[in-house]
Amino acid sequence: MFSLRMRAEKDGRHVSGGERLVGTQEDMRRAVEELLKRPKEYDLMVITVERLYRVERVRKALTIYSYDFKEVESAHNFAVEKLKEEGVREEVARLALELLKRGPNPKGGNMRGAVLMDFQTGERLEQDRERGIRTVRMDWKDRNLVKKLLIERGIKRQYLERLLDALVLATKNLYCGVLAELCWSDDPDYTTGYVAGRKLGYIRIKPMKEWGVPLGGRVYFVKKEGLEELIECLEKRPLLVEEL
Ligand code: COA
Ligand code: AMP
Repeated sequence: MFSLRMRAEKDGRHVSGGERLVGTQEDMRRAVEELLKRPKEYDLMVITVERLYRVERVRKALTIYSYDFKEVESAHNFAVEKLKEEGVREEVARLALELLKRGPNPKGGNMRGAVLMDFQTGERLEQDRERGIRTVRMDWKDRNLVKKLLIERGIKRQYLERLLDALVLATKNLYCGVLAELCWSDDPDYTTGYVAGRKLGYIRIKPMKEWGVPLGGRVYFVKKEGLEELIECLEKRPLLVEEL
């Protein structure tokens, strides 16, 4: 198989990214066509194709649940309760929420990847706090089938690609040993976020931020032990998710 990755920049800023794991020339051609269309505007696009020698598989993605709230505060309180069920202490969960609210990059704004947070102490464990850690080299075994199933379950088309990407990412995170995850997008027009965990599944929560806010991010709650192997898995080990 091959890992196919696209990233696009405008005015030196990352504006779009996407990736696939593909097995045939035909799949590769189709994936490039799809990814080429992804950024609305860009002045540089980089497409990387990398041969893979070993691809791991996980049978099922996390189960999806969705909850809507009237305001951000209730959504956040709910997220904290859910993260507690995965063993994240309340103070630590609140620290993570505050971090994403004000922008987790110490220089201001968003990071280029996720925060790694000690699930017991709240200590930040990623080496580079502007970059963070990115989960890469993952995909659905049959992306089109999963898309069809999600449409049948009533997921609106405008949310489909985002959900497909985020669900596969969250599934890989737990597979690699992340205990729980908190996320909301930095896209100002998208206020749905999620918490994920082994017991929780993938819980979509709306609204995790006010409309129009350009700040977001991901916090991975982790154990301090075994960090190197965890990062290696997140960044390097290719994973296919077989079923929704
Ligand atoms: N955010 C911001 N900058 C990014 C980025 C991202 N997601 N991905 C890449 N970049 C930029 C960074 O400047 C990076 O340099 P750095 O490593 O110092 O941060 C540079 O591009 C090169 O990154 P690299 O990791 O070599 O890119 P890649 O070719 O391996 O592609 C992507 C990685 C783009 C596929 C991956 O990062 C990505 O964005 N995947 C899709 C994301 C996704 O599905 N998110 C969930 C949506 S809900
Ligand atoms: P998005 O959901 O694409 O709006 O991304 C929200 C935030 O998640 C970004 O601001 C990044 O900090 C982080 N992020 C984006 N891509 C990845 C990735 N592949 N792995 C981990 N974190 C990411």
